[in-house]
Amino acid sequence: MLTVLMGQMTDPTEPRLTADDVRLRLGAVPERAVGEWLYAGLRAAIAGGEFPAGARLPSSRTLAGGLGVARGTVTAAEDRLVDEGMLRSAPRAGLLVTPPLTSRPGPDPVTSRRAPSSPGTPDPALFPRAGWSRAFREAVADLGAADLGYPDPQGLPGLRTALAEQLRLSRGVRTDPDSIVVVSGVAQGFSLIATMLGRGAVLAMEDPGSAGSIELFRRLGLRLAPVPVDQRGIVVDRIDPLARAVVVTPAHQYPLGVPLAPDRRRELVDWAAAGDRLVVEDDYDAELRYDRSPVPAIQGLAPDRVLLAGSVSKTLSPALRLGWLVAPPALVGKLVDGKRFADLGCSVPEQATLAAFLRSGAYSRHTRRARIRYGERRALLLQALADLGCERPVLGVAAGLHLVIELDSAAGERRALADLAAAGAPQRVAVQPLSAGSFGADRFGLVVGTARLTVDTAAMVAAAVSAR
Ligand SMILES: Cc1ncc(COP(=O)(O)O)c(C=O)c1O
Repeated sequence: MLTVLMGQMTDPTEPRLTADDVRLRLGAVPERAVGEWLYAGLRAAIAGGEFPAGARLPSSRTLAGGLGVARGTVTAAEDRLVDEGMLRSAPRAGLLVTPPLTSRPGPDPVTSRRAPSSPGTPDPALFPRAGWSRAFREAVADLGAADLGYPDPQGLPGLRTALAEQLRLSRGVRTDPDSIVVVSGVAQGFSLIATMLGRGAVLAMEDPGSAGSIELFRRLGLRLAPVPVDQRGIVVDRIDPLARAVVVTPAHQYPLGVPLAPDRRRELVDWAAAGDRLVVEDDYDAELRYDRSPVPAIQGLAPDRVLLAGSVSKTLSPALRLGWLVAPPALVGKLVDGKRFADLGCSVPEQATLAAFLRSGAYSRHTRRARIRYGERRALLLQALADLGCERPVLGVAAGLHLVIELDSAAGERRALADLAAAGAPQRVAVQPLSAGSFGADRFGLVVGTARLTVDTAAMVAAAVSAR
């Protein structure tokens, strides 16, 4: 096929593919799923070297005409391939094929330091590649000269405005663009909060909680005071009296999955007001609730006492490293100062893209679609457990990207993890021991990522816990 196609190309030094080349390689246009067919066919031809590196694609209009498909179908497939790095756009040349993946150097095993797979990670296949890349291109085209200098460390004003509106509508947050700081995810927001509180400050944290957040605050020199969590959320009257701040996950406690009970929400805000203390609301996955609309943020109850942290890591992708702090006005200056000296501000093109995504409604549409998929996948695990008659407690409401299956002992936890490893599950489903985020390591179970579950992997997890 390669020789045939190459023979038809007009200029061997700058190979140019025609619509006929593509038609010959891909065969007849199917009746349904034309976009997927075109994307997969082009992808296979590029990956297999049949469309060689440097070859120029016909214009989208020509290709659409030659294949008899809509031009939008062609550009959508091309956008996906551009996102994946299989095509690149060159000035005045249109789209060129980049070298096949197999000939590119692989990641350096020494310098690649990915975080271990976390149960709360979204399904990368749902990332809206085409929409995001279109928004990115448009956002970059619209940037003025001043936007290409060092950014406002507080965040792009247009993004802060869009976030204030989005958070008001979706989370009941009461704020304005001047009280928002754009950060590289909740994790960076926590670093800025830690710096603001100062080394040695006592910080109360939920027990069990997020192992990553606990470790982050510990490394930054805070003295951590664990607070028990029961089936109604954090037990507010057990917060250490020396604590200057508490970190909570009220919409969907991480990892146990319970929302904070209404009377405790009020109690928490009163606790903060009574002692000039701060509530740090980790709103990490609050937009993903499947059985009802999410519980509003407690920030809305007391904007002067609650500092809310959120990000797109659960709704879009943690790879974007984009998030926000919604701060009491008195703390904004310190946080912006911290952000300035941390990294001089977040990437302007990425911020502008998120702003456009929010403004156009693409973010809300994506989140609505993702909610349906994630709700179904979570249900697969509940079904698999029911099929096996498993009576282990499954904790948490229908929300987020993980759930917890409780086990009786450390030994049970170890054995369930070993069974999953033996079944090859770690490559396909993210699972962590519940004890990892437990200060006293006295709660056991599996924290299971539900975002990518299939019937098979759900059955694997159900079998591993049922056997215990
Ligand atoms: C409970 C919780 N808080 C915070 C984070 C950090 O999120 P980000 O990617 O926004 O830094 C995570 C990430 O998994 C999380 O699970």
